[in-house]
Amino acid sequence: MELKEFLHMNGGDGELSYSQNSFLQRGVSLMSQPMLEIALKSIISEGLGPGKALKVADLGCGVGPVPSALASLVKENVKRECEELSWDDDDDDDQMPEIQIYMNDLPSNDFNLLFRDLLRMEEEKGEDVEGKSSKLPMCSLMGAPGSYYERLFPKESLHLVHANCTRHWLSQNLTFVLTPWGHVKAPSGLYRPEGRGINKGNVYISETSPREAYLGQFERDLTQFLKCRSQEVVPNGLMLLTFRGRPSSSDLATWQPWELKLLSLSISSLVSKGMLEKDKVDSFDFPYFGATKEEIRSIVEGQGSFAVENMKTVTHSVANEIECNEERAQKIGKFVRAFTQPVLSRYFGVQVLGSLNDELTLLALLHLDDGQPVDHFIIIVLLRRI
Ligand SMILES: C[S@@+](CC[C@H](N)C(=O)[O-])C[C@H]1O[C@@H](n2cnc3c(N)ncnc32)[C@H](O)[C@@H]1O
Repeated sequence: MELKEFLHMNGGDGELSYSQNSFLQRGVSLMSQPMLEIALKSIISEGLGPGKALKVADLGCGVGPVPSALASLVKENVKRECEELSWDDDDDDDQMPEIQIYMNDLPSNDFNLLFRDLLRMEEEKGEDVEGKSSKLPMCSLMGAPGSYYERLFPKESLHLVHANCTRHWLSQNLTFVLTPWGHVKAPSGLYRPEGRGINKGNVYISETSPREAYLGQFERDLTQFLKCRSQEVVPNGLMLLTFRGRPSSSDLATWQPWELKLLSLSISSLVSKGMLEKDKVDSFDFPYFGATKEEIRSIVEGQGSFAVENMKTVTHSVANEIECNEERAQKIGKFVRAFTQPVLSRYFGVQVLGSLNDELTLLALLHLDDGQPVDHFIIIVLLRRI
């Protein structure tokens, strides 16, 4: 079975859900908001023309606050821009652009919850503006399930593409294959010919990993993503991507996202307690890659369909509003669980998830007590279709 058939964030809106624990991703989307507003302004005032429909796609939208906030932000910005251009004239309703937002994710995403949230928000917003003279543009929301490594939309049909905190996931066209030491799945080249995992004891790049295999996979994936979008985005259209990346100064061999390091350590701890088989752990890798901004720029330029209009890096510290380390560690445990659980349960079995989460929360507490950073290095990129 391919990863794309079961990859998703934790569904529902309960305590362990992605929807309740995507505060980091929401923080990142807030940091990219100024660039998004500039992009919308540019599309509406420079190219769209009055009365035309604005078409936006949120790729790898997940569920929760980020896609909801995107829908509101697009509507509010269109309204504001129309006011500035005097396209909101009451006598001429046809001037204000209508909006179509496509919500894309893999089919196993919780689309029911996503649309329930979005429609509830529409109703609440509708009540807010009732009786006031301000009118929001008409907006239709559509589901577009599928992998963004494939074509999803008709040619030259999108004005704006948004993809928050998703492009660091490596492609899911890699199949889990059953070997004598368990199911193996990783970027090609990550396993020796005899199939033995190379990132032993780690779920991410370690000093013994063939780093080029990860970078090569990331390059092929981003190139394929850009190739698909180059056909779907209108000339001059824009694409806002945020990546979990790594600082340019960091060495690929030794840099690890701190939460994947904690995950590796918690998995190893369960091995030492006899709750997980060592070989199985050695053959598991998280489908994830943290690129530098230079690597991203070079891939975009190499593919050739988009120009880098703006690029910036920011850091975001997880749950830094919480002063008590114990509480913060609990929150970190839930945050990691919300995006790793479906993959981990498929690979190691649902029965170990509770223990794994307990280990990770404990390690997060030690990490915090030790004064270690829990920063995320984020790369925000605005691309323009050439
Ligand atoms: C960390 S979540 C981010 C969700 C949302 N954009 C946000 O900021 O909260 C990553 C999302 O990317 C989706 N994803 C991963 N690979 C994908 C692919 N090949 N095609 C479409 N969506 C994908 C996952 O299912 C998940 O919902």
